Order: sequence, then structure tokens, then C-alpha cells
Amino acid sequence: MNAGSVDHLSPIEAQIEYARLAEELTKHDQLYYQEDSPIISDAQYDALRQRYEALEKLFPELVTRHSLTQKVGSKPSEKFAKIKHSIPMLSLGNVFTNDDVSDFVARVRRFLGQTQSLQISFTAEPKIDGLSCSLRYERGMLISAATRGDGFEGEDVTANIKTLKEIPLQLMGEPPEILEVRGEVYMAHEDFQALNQRQRAQSKALFANPRNAAAGSLRQLDAKITATRPLHFFAYAWGAVSQMPATTQAGVLEAFKSYGLPVNPLTRLCTTLEEMLEQFQIIEAQRATLGYDIDGVVYKVDSIELQNRLGFVSRAPRWAVAHKFPAEQATTLVRDIEIQVGRTGALTPVARLAPVTVGGVIVSNATLHNEEEISRKDIRIGDTVVIQRAGDVIPQIAHVELSKRPKSAKPFNFPDVCPRCGSAALREIDEKTGVADVVRRCTGSLVCPAQAIERLKHFCSRNAFDIEGLGDKQIEYFYQEGLIETAADIFTLEKRDRENLTKIKNREGFGETSVRNLFQAINARRKIEINRFIYALGIRHIGETNARRLARHFIDFEALRLTAALAKPDTPERSRIDTIDGVGPVVAEALHDFFCEPHNSSALDALLKEVTLEPMPAVAATSAVSGKTVVFTGALEKLTREEAKAQAERFGAKVAGSVSKKTDLLVAGPGAGSKLATAQALGVEVISEDEWFKRTQQN
Ligand code: IVH
Repeated sequence: MNAGSVDHLSPIEAQIEYARLAEELTKHDQLYYQEDSPIISDAQYDALRQRYEALEKLFPELVTRHSLTQKVGSKPSEKFAKIKHSIPMLSLGNVFTNDDVSDFVARVRRFLGQTQSLQISFTAEPKIDGLSCSLRYERGMLISAATRGDGFEGEDVTANIKTLKEIPLQLMGEPPEILEVRGEVYMAHEDFQALNQRQRAQSKALFANPRNAAAGSLRQLDAKITATRPLHFFAYAWGAVSQMPATTQAGVLEAFKSYGLPVNPLTRLCTTLEEMLEQFQIIEAQRATLGYDIDGVVYKVDSIELQNRLGFVSRAPRWAVAHKFPAEQATTLVRDIEIQVGRTGALTPVARLAPVTVGGVIVSNATLHNEEEISRKDIRIGDTVVIQRAGDVIPQIAHVELSKRPKSAKPFNFPDVCPRCGSAALREIDEKTGVADVVRRCTGSLVCPAQAIERLKHFCSRNAFDIEGLGDKQIEYFYQEGLIETAADIFTLEKRDRENLTKIKNREGFGETSVRNLFQAINARRKIEINRFIYALGIRHIGETNARRLARHFIDFEALRLTAALAKPDTPERSRIDTIDGVGPVVAEALHDFFCEPHNSSALDALLKEVTLEPMPAVAATSAVSGKTVVFTGALEKLTREEAKAQAERFGAKVAGSVSKKTDLLVAGPGAGSKLATAQALGVEVISEDEWFKRTQQN
């Protein structure tokens, strides 16, 4: 079908045949390399490949930088010498559900003729998504290294493997005379991204994922190239061994460690099915933050004697199985890239996506962080992208499917003016380092409607003025209608309405009762604690914690205002602020800038005519959460993360970033992922945001 000559083809026929072969070869590459399950023989693959290359020879104009011949990391190359594995390198059976794991354990028991009561231990270790390699040590010296190849024969990558810093050329301790160490070569996420950036800069083909990049980097004919690629290794199995250093899987891993070989730290010895599944959850929970790809957990019967008794079925051991993670990635289309403007003028790009389900959640937006991120990943409108939900809730674009890029897609031009007010948008240069901030900011803080609206939202938010009935939507509406432009306008709204200047009643969504309730809610907040007031002003770098520090130090707001206004560098006022515990020069500068600004000053005067400041309350030492270590995860609906943290601290709790045995409480909002799983696995108490509020209210 594919064999035979190509020289009778016309250029057009050749083009069609070339494209067809490329598609077919890509499919088989995918099956072979990504899924380890080829559906054609090596000979059949070679025939397709030969025809493809013959076409290129005859019609060189077909070759582009996307051609398969230009890519690294495809079919085992004839150019490498081959090494026969003394013991075949086999693969693993896959399972996907807890029931499947339970069946696996039952199968093992049945095969061994064990009753339920007899304990069989299993190791649970991460399944590293790289390429497997067998390292042969003789008398402690690294002699050779081979890829898995077809399982019986692999490529000789000895010179390449020797460039990996983590792989000892000489083992430590007293290893067996002959020891074949097997494990996975992989590339960390960070290094993968940096490598692709270099490839792009040199107009070379990009690697689709870290696994391909690792394979392409190891399988270089010139080991000097491998040496420039940061590859890592985890040892997890063995081939020929003159004398086993231990009688268990866990024991061998310990021995590997003692010889100086890297062993994955998440490996755990389990004695029950529950422990195995618990370790699966713990590993899955850490997946997004490991910094390298794993695609499941491998369970192995710990006793080597039992492993030997269990043996193999076709190409996989009966004593091990891979429990694969459900896919948390999905492919979708970038419909648009929008720029959001935040309270402090930060321009944040957001990708609007064709909605798609990822890990059970419908995703239609993904954060692009900043302009560097867009250009680093070269994300364009119209691109097909792979998105992933990393650990927590905010979906991200993992990479672009370059092969699906429409010809018309142009690189995204990040605006240098604010899309809302047209003011210049700049990346501040750090005076000390001369480095531009990654964030571009709108400079029109006082004329920019986006910033004004975001500031008002912040002003009314729960831990600031906490005005019920003035949510984000209402604020946007009142601003657009010109009824509220500054914070003081909120408090003059009722008076203006009474004078028939605003006429809120009968406007969109406002009946008589809701107008009355709104005015009541506003009036109820005319008295406010000084720390909340400082926080509500939305001064850059002044979150709740700093607001409390300032309130504690100055007690009187006017004292803070005057000192900050006078606090030019090298003045006594600046030193006074600098000496406040926890307040640094960046905060001092931000305070000075804010209180010096004449518009801010008049807005403040107007506001202070409307509200009365009260002293800061003492810390509630005996709240239901005081002394507890709390972690927040998922989308909090009533609080921002910063607010949640400050609130917890106010009630005497300690906030941690990750879940561990020391965590007392996990507050989980919708979309909670890895942290929730870890908490459940560790038996940490999990509560909702509402429950959190209840607990912080009861003293
Ligand atoms: S044990 C006879 N342990 O997964 C069983 N394999 O799908 C030998 N892999 O070819 C493999 N992490 O490349 C084992 N902790 C781990 C692993 C692991 C990744 C890879 C390995 C293997 C493939 C099977």
C-alpha cells in the first residue's frame, strides 16, 4: 500500500501523499511514544517513514520546519548503536478507578492463594511521565545506558546519560557487582519552558511536552547537546542484579538511595487498600506543584519473593499496576484575549475560550498573567490550546497546538495604552535593578474608569466598608450612570436622591424597599474602625495587615495622613514610617505618594465629612478559630484571599499555604482541587466559607 516508488507522482499528488503520510506517521508516533501502545509493527512503520523520506528527496520543496524529519524524538534511530536488555523492560497495566485497584489487590491475593486475613504490602510511587532507561553498573562503575526501545533492545545512550548530573558515574557504598538500575529520565516544567523559549529564539521546532523534550534531549547523537539540557532521573526498578541488596521493593529503593541514586520521595509503603488509595490522593494533590509531570501512581507488591511468584502476563507484571489520573487537561479555542484593568491599574490579559470541561469544571476563561507569559507561550487569538487546571482553581494555558494554528493568527500585541481610559500603560523600572516590572500599569489612576470602579468595589468590600446592597454589579451600574464616582458620593446618595437629583427608585432592579434598604445599609456604615478605613482607601501595598499596623502605630488617622504626606525620602517622617514593625520602604513610598496627591486629598476630605472613625478593636483572643492553622482553597465567594488571610489573623488563626498534618482547618470554596483531596486524605477538617464565617463570629 505504501511501499513502492513515488517518482510517478505529480507535484500536487506528492503534496497530498506527503500530508497523508505525515498524519499517519504522527498518529503512530503518538501511539508509540505517548501511549506506549503501537498498533503497527516496526517494519510497517519503517515502510511509511521511508516513503515519506523518498517524497522529500524527490520534492524538496515539501520540507518545512514542521516536517517530521526535522523533529527530534521520533522512532528509535538506526543511527544509535543498540543494546540488548538482559531482562526485558516491560510496561505496566493501567487502571483508572478505586474499584480497579481493589480488583488488582484481589487478583494478587487470588493468584497467591492468600486469604483476606494475610497481609500483603504494596509500595505506592508516582508514575513519572518521562522515558525509561536502564543503567548498567559493574563494580559500581556506570558501564552503559540504554533506552527502553521495544522492550528487548534499546538505544545506546551511554554518552548522553553520563552528562546527567544526578546520575552517579560511580556508585557509593557497597553495591552488588552487577546492578542494572532502571528508572525514568524526565525534564522539569521550568526547564521545558526555558528550552522551548530557546528553540523559538533560534526558529527551531518546539517540543510538545516535557516528555518529548526529555526524549529528544536524551536521544541526541551529539552528547554535548544533551549536556546543555537539564535532565533528571528517578530510579524505581532493576534489571540484572548479581545479588539483590534487599528482599523488598522499598528496601531496594532504600539501597538505591544509599548508592547515591535519586529516588522519588513520595514513595510510601502501604499495608491496606485504603492506604494505597490515600497515597494516590496525596500524590494527586501534589501533582500540580511538583514541577515535573506525573501521570498516575504505580502500586507494586513489596515482597520480591512474591513478585517472582506472581511473574508476568504478556508484557506487564502481575505484581504491579499503574493507577492513572483522570485527565485534567482539555483542548479548546482562544476566541479572544481581553485586557482587564485592576484597582491599581495593573493590566491583566485574560483568554476568552470556547467553553470546555476540564476535570469536571466548565472553563471559559484562562488567566494569561502578563504580557511576558503571552509572548513566552506565543498565544494568539484563533489558536487551539491545551488548558489545564493546575492545583487550585485558576485555569491556565499549558501550551498552544502549533500544528492547528490558522495562517491568519498574528502574534498578540499587548497594548501600551490603557484599553479603558487611553492613558499610557507602563512597566515600571525598578530603580535598583533596572529591571522592568512584569506588570504593565495604566498611569491614569484618577481618570481611568476601570480603576475607579475597582477602587469603589474594594471600598465597599466585606473587610472594608462592607456595604450590603452595593455589590460589584450595583457599583458598576451607579458608576456608569454617573451617580457614584468617588467614595464620598456613596454617602451623599440619599441626600441627592431626596433632592431629586438621582431618582434611584424604579431604575433597573430598584423598588422602593430596595432603595430604602440600600440607604439604611450605607448609613449603618457611617462609623468605621480606623484600620478598616485605611484598608478601604485601596492604597497600593496596604492590605489588611498593613492597615492594622498603621492604625496601631498612629492611632489617629490625621497623624498618619500628615506624617505620610511629609514622608519624602530622608525625612524624620519617612524614618518614623520605616520603623513600624513589618512596614518597609515600598509601603512608605506608596503611603507618601497617596497622601501627597491633591485629588486624593480632596476626595479624603469629602469622605471624612461623611464618616466617623473609631478606634481599632482588640484582637479577639478567644474566637473558635484562634490558635488554629487554616488553609484556604477554591474560589472564595465573599472574600479575596488577602481578606481571608487578614480575617483569620484577626481572629487569632494562622494561615498556611499548603495542607499538611499540622493543618487544623481547610476552608474550601467551589472548584477546590488538590488541597481538598490532601485534606481529605489526611483527615483534616474541611468547612465551607459560610461555616468559616459562623465560626469567626462566635466568640
Ligand atoms: S515500574 C515491570 N515504576 O511507566 C515494571 N514504571 O507504563 C517496570 N514509569 O515503562 C516499570 N514511573 O517508563 C515503574 N514508578 C514507576 C514508574 C514507571 C514511570 C513508566 C516506565 C514504564 C511505564 C509503563
